Formats: sequence, structure tokens, C-alpha cells
Amino acid sequence: MKILVLNGSPKRDASDTMHLTRAFLEGMKNAGEQEITTVHAVDKHIEYCTGCFSCMRNGGTCVLDDDMREILEEILNSDVLLFNFPLYCYGMPAPLKALVDRILPLSSMRMEKIGERYEHVGQADFSHLRYVMICGCGFPNSKHNFEPAIAQFELLFPEGRTIFTVPESPLFGVPEAGEVTEPRLALVREAGRVFAETGTVPDALIEAIGTPMIPEEVYAGMVNGTMQ
Ligand SMILES: Cc1cc2nc3c(=O)[nH]c(=O)nc-3n(C[C@H](O)[C@H](O)[C@H](O)COP(=O)(O)O)c2cc1C
Repeated sequence: MKILVLNGSPKRDASDTMHLTRAFLEGMKNAGEQEITTVHAVDKHIEYCTGCFSCMRNGGTCVLDDDMREILEEILNSDVLLFNFPLYCYGMPAPLKALVDRILPLSSMRMEKIGERYEHVGQADFSHLRYVMICGCGFPNSKHNFEPAIAQFELLFPEGRTIFTVPESPLFGVPEAGEVTEPRLALVREAGRVFAETGTVPDALIEAIGTPMIPEEVYAGMVNGTMQ
């Protein structure tokens, strides 16, 4: 399978969330050979979408000539788009949002009603794509935190998506926390293997991956302790 990792963390490979993505990809590799390309959004020249809509009327060419041309090619040549990002202000970090806005050329201006809402009709065939979101965050709570990012991803990619959200993710960057992070990464590896074999991950496994690794009061106490 061809997997395109779109990393929204400005910390690149040093990202807390990338520990989860690497484990997921390791699991996928346990199921078979995978071709993986990683794009660190922060390193790419991606201008902001100007909102001119010419791409949606002209068959899909953006007026801006920057790294997005190559990334759009990569997207269409992939089987899986894996969005790795830390939660920033309840959403995705700005470099990744700029990239996502610039995916507009794959859609046409035409809109059609699907269920209860309107969607743009594609002007490229991306029906083969599957979408994975792996999102870490700094607070111990998932509720009142991840909802906007999940809702955005679900609306962007209504079909074929798998979403993982993991609180307390700075722990992945702390070697002393291995006792709690290693078992969690083992679950993520398992999720990657199952995803590669079946194209989905059971809800129970997604839920187990998304629970806090240590009690929230303990985590908050640790963070507050280091900040004093
Ligand atoms: C600008 C900014 C905004 C953030 N917003 C949130 C937030 O809304 N909720 C949260 O739980 N953590 C938030 N965090 C914490 C990060 O999600 C957390 O530090 C994460 O582990 C960073 O992941 P990374 O190493 O993959 O970049 C924010 C961090 C920054 C720098």
C-alpha cells in the first residue's frame, strides 16, 4: 500500500504524536510491505488558498505554483492519507490547515446533496483513498477538547476514515514514562496491523487507544509540578 503521512506538527520527527504514527506504520508493515512517504507540512512552501475558486472551474489547476502541486500528485497516487497532528486550539496546526485548504482543486464547483448536507462533486477520482487521523494533545481530557478536530475530519472525509485521538501525548516523549506508553504503542501497532489487513479498526481498540494513560489528576499534577 502507498501511504502518505501528512505531519502537521512543527516538531517534525520529534513530535509526540509521531510516536503513535510510527507505531501504527510498524503495525501496518507487520501485515505486509508498505510504501511510506512523509511530508512535514511546516517544511513545505504552501501558500494560503486565495479563495479565487478558479481550480474548481478549470479542471483542477491552482493558480499558485508551489509545493502543493507535487503534494496533490502524491495524494492521488496514494492509497492511504495519514494525517498526524497535535491538537492546536482544538483543531489542526496552521501549516497542515493551509495544506488541507489547498486540496480544493480535487473538487469541482458543482454541489450535490448527500444525506442531509451538500458536498462538492470531485473533479479527480479519489474514491480509492482511505483517511487516517492520529491526533495527540496536551490535556488529559478528550471530552471538551478533541470534538472540533474530529467533526472537521468527519466532514472533510465522510467515507473510509479512521480516527484516533490520544490525550496526555507529551508522555510519549518522556523515556521514564515507558511503563505506560509502551503498552499504548503496542495497541497502536496492533491497530496498524488490523487496519492493513481489513481497512478498518474495531471501535473497542480505538477506544482503548484513546483513554488516558495515567489518571488525569496525576498527569495534571506532574505537569504543574514541572512548571513550578
Ligand atoms: C499553540 C498550541 C495550542 C495547543 N492547543 C491544545 C489544545 O487545544 N488542547 C490540548 O489538549 N492541547 C493543546 N496543545 C498541546 C499539544 O497538543 C501537545 O503539546 C502535543 O503533545 C504536541 O504534540 P507534537 O509533539 O506532536 O507537536 C497546544 C499546543 C500548542 C503549542
